[in-house]
Amino acid sequence: MRPTQIPQTYRVKSFGCQMNVYDGERMAELLAEQGITAAPDGEEADLVVLNTCHIREKAAEKVYSDIGRLRRADGSSPLIAVAGCVAQAEGDEIMKRAPAVQMVVGPQAYHRLPEMIREATGGKRVTDTDMPAQTKFGALPKRKRSGPAAFLTVQEGCDKFCTYCVVPYTRGAEVSRPHADLVDEAKRLVDAGAREISLLGQNVNAWTGEDAKGRTIGLDGLIRELAEIPDLARIRYTTSHPNDFTEGLIAAHGEVDKLMPFLHLPVQAGNDRVLKAMNRSHTAESYLKVLEKVRAARPDIALSGDFIVGFPGESDAEFEDTLALVDTVRYAQCFSFKYSPRPGTPAATMDGQIPAEVMTERIMRLQAALGRDQTAFNKASVGKTCQVLVERRGKLPGQWLGKSPWLQSVYFDGDVAIGDMVTVELTEGGYNAVSARLLGPVPA
Ligand code: 5AD
Ligand code: SF4
Repeated sequence: MRPTQIPQTYRVKSFGCQMNVYDGERMAELLAEQGITAAPDGEEADLVVLNTCHIREKAAEKVYSDIGRLRRADGSSPLIAVAGCVAQAEGDEIMKRAPAVQMVVGPQAYHRLPEMIREATGGKRVTDTDMPAQTKFGALPKRKRSGPAAFLTVQEGCDKFCTYCVVPYTRGAEVSRPHADLVDEAKRLVDAGAREISLLGQNVNAWTGEDAKGRTIGLDGLIRELAEIPDLARIRYTTSHPNDFTEGLIAAHGEVDKLMPFLHLPVQAGNDRVLKAMNRSHTAESYLKVLEKVRAARPDIALSGDFIVGFPGESDAEFEDTLALVDTVRYAQCFSFKYSPRPGTPAATMDGQIPAEVMTERIMRLQAALGRDQTAFNKASVGKTCQVLVERRGKLPGQWLGKSPWLQSVYFDGDVAIGDMVTVELTEGGYNAVSARLLGPVPA
């Protein structure tokens, strides 16, 4: 039996990257505007949106098992929408294989959810994976709610076509949201309680727009302008590509106090032949050069990256170049992945696919090196006094969790509230987090 009533409650489950988290929030706001309310924790929802990720292994299988788990004891299911990148890439297949799914909606089409829900409850199964030139953002409700640390998508899509990556296919071509819309959304988020905004984009440093005076500006110009919002204390951005790293953005790291000393700049591999086969269009050296310049502008910057081990054809010696690069950079934190063939991408059919056990051995060695550096970074920060934005309660009574400027998770005790910006002294560093002693509120 398929639901025929307009749902009263919803649950949005987002997987994958921060951009999906952002999309999930916006879908939730859109549903709330329709009078549909969030299902309380632990209770079944009338409508479930699975906001999926397609970047790596077994994403599609996971979606099918999630759909299966939504089936109730009496055999009925909630109204199910599959959204996100798996919906975009495999929408038709999902409709064929999963009769319980009534809506498939791509990342560029979710502003149409209310209409789709009406059609679905009228008995239709609806798919919308269009990528219209006009972006969805204008059709979404204005932001009214925010936690202390907010996301703001400024740019979507990617034109880089790295040979392993599905993003250019699932998220489409690079599109920058207009400057005025972003300034407006940022101000609304701050009015709603945000003290920190992370600007998001698959290729965020390719953002470009026209400011109020008609001048073409880049991400650095946008950051400088957002830094003028009085109650906004912190700005971050992610994810960048080494080739779009402008001198202006490097300078902003040295000049804009509100721009946090943290940079996530994926490199993927340390060997130039592998980088070429990945179509990364940078070398290990040109990547290191960018980091050197950013470090010169902001000496305390914490560095982060992404790595893929076991790209097709990667030899043992080529993998050693990745370890050597890690030794050179000394990252504060990193993500590392085993290469996963993505259907439709050039690398999926390349010769020299790497056996699973080699992949496992390489990722273990890489993660051991990255873990060593991450722990060392956290230990080296002990004794520093810094500001922490309080984001939530910790697990222990009286304990709070916030982020340091260098994006470390910081635990401390004290009389504070979520959203406070406080001063702490970092007292102990481990692999995943840092402990701290509360010194007091940040002077206004
Ligand atoms: N296999 C493994 N990792 C991948 N990534 C992207 N595509 C793949 C893939 N096919 C990783 C990259 C990217 C991050 C978001 O996910 O490291 O930077
Ligand atoms: Fe994917 Fe490469 Fe674009 Fe990043 S830059 S989203 S890895 S194609």
